[in-house]
Amino acid sequence: MSKVVVFDHPLIQHKLSILRDEKTSVKVFRELISEIAMLMCYEATRDLPLEEVDVKTPVAVAKCHRIAGKKLAVVPILRAGLGMVDGMVSMMPNVKVGHIGLYRDPATKEPVKYYFKMPADIAERDVIVVDPMLATGGSAAAAIDFLKEAGAKHIKLMSIIGAPEGVAKMQKAHPDVDIFVAALDDHLNENAYIVPGLGDAGDRIFGTK
Ligand code: PRP
Ligand code: URA
Repeated sequence: MSKVVVFDHPLIQHKLSILRDEKTSVKVFRELISEIAMLMCYEATRDLPLEEVDVKTPVAVAKCHRIAGKKLAVVPILRAGLGMVDGMVSMMPNVKVGHIGLYRDPATKEPVKYYFKMPADIAERDVIVVDPMLATGGSAAAAIDFLKEAGAKHIKLMSIIGAPEGVAKMQKAHPDVDIFVAALDDHLNENAYIVPGLGDAGDRIFGTK
C-alpha cells in the first residue's frame, strides 16, 4: 500500500488558506501554487540518494554531500499541473519535464487524453507527477497508467489538495505510488469537485472563468 503524506508545515498551511479564498486574484493564485509546489518539492525529494564529496573551502577540506546523479523527471498533468512546474524547477534546475494532457469529460467525469510527450529516457527516470487537484483520482490514475506503459517504474504523485475518494482510487490502482498532498479534504460534491477545495484549479491559474 502506498504512503500518503499530508504536509502540515505552517508555511504551506498559511499559503493554502489564501489559495482557497475565492477572493484571491489570478496573479496571487498562480504565485501561491508555484510557492507551495516549491515547498512540497523540498519534502517529496527527501529520499534522494547522496554521495560524499570532498570540497576545498578557503580553510580546509570539508566532507560534503551532493545528490548522487539521480535522474528525475517532473510530469505535470495539463493544464493545472503546469502551475506547479516553476516551483519544482526552481528547486531542481536540471530536471527534465514531460507533459500529459488530460481533461475530465464534464458529463462522465472520466479523463480524456489529448497529449503525451516524455523525455526519451523516461523509463530510467524517477518521476514526480504534479497536479494541484486529486478529486476522483481518475486523471492521476490514468496519467500514471500512461507513464507505466512508457516504462516509468518509480513514480510519486504530488497534489495540493486531495479528496479521500481520489486517494482511495490511486491506492487501489497504483499501490506502488506514494502520494504527497498539502491537505486532505472532506469529500466530493455532485459535480466531483473537492469540498471545501478551491474550485477549478485550471480556471483559477489561467483566468479562464
Ligand atoms: C482538473 C485537475 C485534475 C483533475 C482532477 O483538471 O487539474 O487534472 O481535474 O480531477 P479527477 O481527480 O476527478 O480526475 P481538469 O479536468 O479540470 O482540466 P484542466 O486542468 O485542463 O482545467
Ligand atoms: N478539478 C478541479 O480543478 N477542482 C476540483 O475540485 C476537482 C477537479
